[in-house]
Amino acid sequence: MKALVLAGGTGSRLRPITHTGAKQLVPVANKPILFYVIETLVDAGITDIGMIVGATEEEIRATVGDGGDFGAKVTYIPQDRPLGLAHAVLVARDYLAEDDFVMFLGDNFVVGGINGLVREFEAERPDAAIMLTRVKDPSDYGVAVLDTQGQVVRLEEKPRNPVSDLAVIGVYLFTTAVHQAVRAISPSARGELEITDAIQWLIDQGHAVRSTVIGNYWKDTGSVSELLEVNRAVLETLEPGVDGTVDKESELIGRVRVEPGATVSRSRIVGPAVIGAGTKVTGSYIGPWTSVDRDCVITASEIEYSIVLAGSSVEGVGRIESSLIGKEVRITRSAGPCRTHRLIVGDHSKVQITPLSHSPEPLT
Ligand code: G1P
Repeated sequence: MKALVLAGGTGSRLRPITHTGAKQLVPVANKPILFYVIETLVDAGITDIGMIVGATEEEIRATVGDGGDFGAKVTYIPQDRPLGLAHAVLVARDYLAEDDFVMFLGDNFVVGGINGLVREFEAERPDAAIMLTRVKDPSDYGVAVLDTQGQVVRLEEKPRNPVSDLAVIGVYLFTTAVHQAVRAISPSARGELEITDAIQWLIDQGHAVRSTVIGNYWKDTGSVSELLEVNRAVLETLEPGVDGTVDKESELIGRVRVEPGATVSRSRIVGPAVIGAGTKVTGSYIGPWTSVDRDCVITASEIEYSIVLAGSSVEGVGRIESSLIGKEVRITRSAGPCRTHRLIVGDHSKVQITPLSHSPEPLT
């Protein structure tokens, strides 16, 4: 069995972070989401991985390499334009040859792996197997309708009025039957060849399509709040340990990992939290469910339930919460007599500021 990992796309919903980087490389607990995808596949015994790449090909290649570090062999397959998931299958036709394969969207996250699902597929060999999960906002997904026996009868891509709350998750298992399906369908209203339509074609042609309802799934790109949730869930499983330096005046509580070369002084860290390699935390409080990536500086500040990317500094600011802070960002206290906010904020950024307690009343 092979894998087809989709690592193209623009990641518009994670702007501004994705203005400068691939969405699949946004870190969760200081590790790119795409690494979890590759590890999940290798863990299920699938090491032959075709990686569909688009505009961010260079960055993905530089980060993942030939897959050797993961015990995998990665073959890069360029997709000129993001014309849909079924289009990616078309583009990968030669690579996939006559093998069964798992298609895994590079921004999807399945806690607990896919071993059971892969073994079941190999044993029963339906033409396709999909995974479903109950969601609050089905209109953001492909949605499945099951009959009373639990068989999939219909799939709809991002329906305005969803008829069920069962979303199709971004991990699909296929036999070669799918190749005929992706050739048979036409582009959807959004101009993409939808994998949902290809699976519907298989159902309509009488092919066997199985479904399994699972829990523990996230689609990270929906919003920053989902990303913070995935980060929280992964940090809950963190292996605690101190490979950096923690001084006597600091206190670590719960699951805390301090990576090599990180220093924690006069600070309190309440886990689960991870402090990246080379990061310096001084006179600060780091609260639960926080990931601070490598080479950051956190001084005289408080951060909780947040993700801070590499090379950023937060100095002398009050409590930061539920935040995603990009790479090489500077957040400092403004100097001078006036208590003003001074902002240099990139395109598509979001800033929420708590009014100062002694702010003048608004003019009427
Ligand atoms: C794609 C699929 C959709 C599926 C989702 C899961 O949507 O088209 O059916 O539910 O992935 O992540 P996208 O998020 O790429 O628009």
